[in-house]
Amino acid sequence: LRIVLAGFGVVGQSFAELLVLKSADLASRYGVVPRLVAIVDSEGSVLDGRGLSIKKALQEKRTKGRVGDRNGRDTARIIAETEAEVLIEATPTNFRTGEPGLSHMKAAFASKKHVVTCNKGPLAVAFHAMHELARHNGVQLRYSGAVGGGTPILDFGQSCARGDDIVSVTGILNGTCNFILSKMEQDGATFDDALKLAQKEGYAEADPTLDIDGYDSAVKLVIMANHLGLSRATVKEVKIKGIRGIDSREVVRARESGRAIRLIATAEHGLSISPTSLDRNDPVCVSGAYNAVKFHCRFSGPKVIIGKGAGGPETASSLLRDLLDIRGAFNEGVTA
Ligand code: HSE
Repeated sequence: LRIVLAGFGVVGQSFAELLVLKSADLASRYGVVPRLVAIVDSEGSVLDGRGLSIKKALQEKRTKGRVGDRNGRDTARIIAETEAEVLIEATPTNFRTGEPGLSHMKAAFASKKHVVTCNKGPLAVAFHAMHELARHNGVQLRYSGAVGGGTPILDFGQSCARGDDIVSVTGILNGTCNFILSKMEQDGATFDDALKLAQKEGYAEADPTLDIDGYDSAVKLVIMANHLGLSRATVKEVKIKGIRGIDSREVVRARESGRAIRLIATAEHGLSISPTSLDRNDPVCVSGAYNAVKFHCRFSGPKVIIGKGAGGPETASSLLRDLLDIRGAFNEGVTA
């Protein structure tokens, strides 16, 4: 299974490490021998059709801050011209243009490669167009890591919807905000210190205002609502209020009355993101870099999924999960 990896930041490196750690297991449990044939980051690229030395690429990234040579080659072109079955797209998210991920995915589809991504930008900007392109080219598009980090929230939601109707969804979709609010509430940390810590842990976006101003949650809500067929809304239609400027006294007051402030995403009559006071006993009221989502179903009632919503190894595990699903599907002759 030949893979092109675009993006070699926190998640891309974690994915490469995971391939090394799991190689024996992948071969024995699934009969899959993944080969990274190209790694491209914003500054360089390395290619080897026989399979790259992942350890060497990781070492080089850590010492030089990039992979391979500064060759100035266009990443989309490398993706299109490299012989491989799958593109793993893990470049930084741009919620406004979807780039460069959008062009990378288009290049992959046009050259008949499956795409696995945790990049929310292209999905936020062109959700249905990307699905259409994948279908048109007879390949698959998987993105379970785009919502929930390593937690399979989208798969769970899909299971809930099978044979039932999802009436509403409420939950926490941003690990960084949840981490910040929990730190303020439990350790009396200031907003800025808690944010710095979240950045250090690798939870925050490259531009952390996307987290704290609620856009990351909004994008995930849009992806989830479209994925589950609840809505065809785009981010423009989401009412968004983030946690910037949240008062630490408000956070402490909530704690003292057995409640907690959380940044809550809701899909019911429209989509919204807003800091909300929750009862501590509400299963959705999780702490730290966790996500929790409650699906209210018409016949089977409420169901909650909880798990880590951000982080390199966590998100990398969902890329691997999607990769195995793709492999399973094309073994069975299933395409898009
Ligand atoms: N910045 C995101 C978060 C990363 O904190 O949830 C995972 O999508």
